[in-house]
Amino acid sequence: MKTTAAITGVQGYLPDHILSNEDLAKIVDTSDEWITSRTGIKERRIMKDGASSDMAVEAVNGLLKKTNTSPDEVDLVILATVTPDYPFPSTANVLCDKTGMKNAWGFDLIAACSGFIYGLSTGAQFIETGKYKKVVVVGVDKMSSIVDYQDRTTCIIFGDGCGAVMLEPNNEGLGVQDFILKSDGAGRNYLFQPGGGSFAPASHETVDNRMHFVKQEGKQVFKFAVTNMADVSAEIMEKNNLTSDDVDWLVPHQANLRIIDATANRMGLSKEKVMINIEKYGNTTAGTLPLCLWDYEKQLKKGDNLILSAFGGGFTWGAVYLKWAYNS
Ligand code: UT7
Repeated sequence: MKTTAAITGVQGYLPDHILSNEDLAKIVDTSDEWITSRTGIKERRIMKDGASSDMAVEAVNGLLKKTNTSPDEVDLVILATVTPDYPFPSTANVLCDKTGMKNAWGFDLIAACSGFIYGLSTGAQFIETGKYKKVVVVGVDKMSSIVDYQDRTTCIIFGDGCGAVMLEPNNEGLGVQDFILKSDGAGRNYLFQPGGGSFAPASHETVDNRMHFVKQEGKQVFKFAVTNMADVSAEIMEKNNLTSDDVDWLVPHQANLRIIDATANRMGLSKEKVMINIEKYGNTTAGTLPLCLWDYEKQLKKGDNLILSAFGGGFTWGAVYLKWAYNS
């Protein structure tokens, strides 16, 4: 049987500090009622001290322990983020150093909210070809480092968090079965961080104009997200001859409960099959999908059919079909 890439463990990390809707209502003109009804979010976590790599260290150390893996056994680390510790070197490099994964090479992957499914699909290739035995895929974002807490249209959405999975070869046909990944750079100005790159290097002007913060045209992004996340999720089901009865779990990007509901409806799935933790963590960008897997890990059974689906800045979007590989 063909070698497939299976998730053999998942671990998350969330900072302790909770920022509630009530807390935000003291900073900007908003309310718990507005945020809850428009997004489904009640609170999010904020990292007070430390960088993205520090969250990743916590998640990966837990993952290595849980999967009985010594750090020097890991071959490759793919770290999806839009909030790296530095423009360079990569946060994957920092992570490898801090966790002692001294035989691994790694790189950062920028695909915003689709970062984890891009990383998972990429990592799976190295396992399927037989090149590597252990690939760690991390989704981490310290969104509080780029969120403008004077902008009520964005600061209510985002939170900080990290999730990581171990990918290993499987010969029972479990793990990643298929993926559909898409991008459209024409959407780049609807959701982006304008300053700090080579387009607009940091200057007094970029700081004065608040260009180092996330800018989002929410309504436009919402429109594209609802259509594309639902379309690509339905597409991967059709491509693999899956009916709604065949799908055990939808693992959707946690950006807005209304987008999640639209995707589940399109796939014909009832609420019980949809992983949702947006009320606790908000949108942690690259962190949402592995954090869902982590929260729901105990409910997952070997052989379950999962569809992971995301839409985000870029625009980037896509879906992954995988068969869960273990009982916890
Ligand atoms: O994760 C990557 C992809 N990102 C997404 O998928 C996010 C997609 N977008 C969204 O989730 C939604 O567009 C938002 C949650 C960002 C906004 O919800 P919306 O229902 O699209 O609201 P809106 O932008 O149409 O604004 C409706 C009203 C406006 O007031 P007027 O013009 O009707 O008087 C806004 O000024 O709500 C106002 N508003 C707020 N009111 C209270 C906007 N933000 C807030 C707020 N509190 N925080």
